[in-house]
Amino acid sequence: MDVLEIIRADHRLIESLFSQIEQTNDNYKLYECFNQLYEALNVHAEVEEQVFYPAIRNCQGTNELVDDAQKEHEEARQILEELGSLSPTKDEFKQKIATLKQVIQHHVQEEENEVFSKVRACMNEEERFQIGSKFATVKSKLQSEISVPS
Ligand SMILES: [Fe+2]
Ligand SMILES: [Fe+2]
Repeated sequence: MDVLEIIRADHRLIESLFSQIEQTNDNYKLYECFNQLYEALNVHAEVEEQVFYPAIRNCQGTNELVDDAQKEHEEARQILEELGSLSPTKDEFKQKIATLKQVIQHHVQEEENEVFSKVRACMNEEERFQIGSKFATVKSKLQSEISVPS
């Protein structure tokens, strides 16, 4: 699979988890969805950093975008850790989720609008598929390692 398609699908899953968290009144579901979001976001950011970002640094005009993206990942990770230590029923939790959603929305837009077009201009389908298969391998490995601290 094309790495850009895998990343896009991850982004849509993450967005749907944010919506579910915002819409539910059920505390158990809230807790479950947050755990899924914590895992999905941490895994996604880590695989991008291990596989995708290093692979695209050679494409023209990506260096600054990747540096920025990495800072945004750090910011997201920090908010996720703070969220992990809060009870999902607290108002502070809801406020922090809203902040995290904004950070992620901005980040995802930048990736899909700016980074993707630069990658398409510099890599053919075969190369994107090769990176895609590496992305999938590292992702499934990390999925078994990363989970919300209890
Ligand atoms: Fe990212
Ligand atoms: Fe991403």
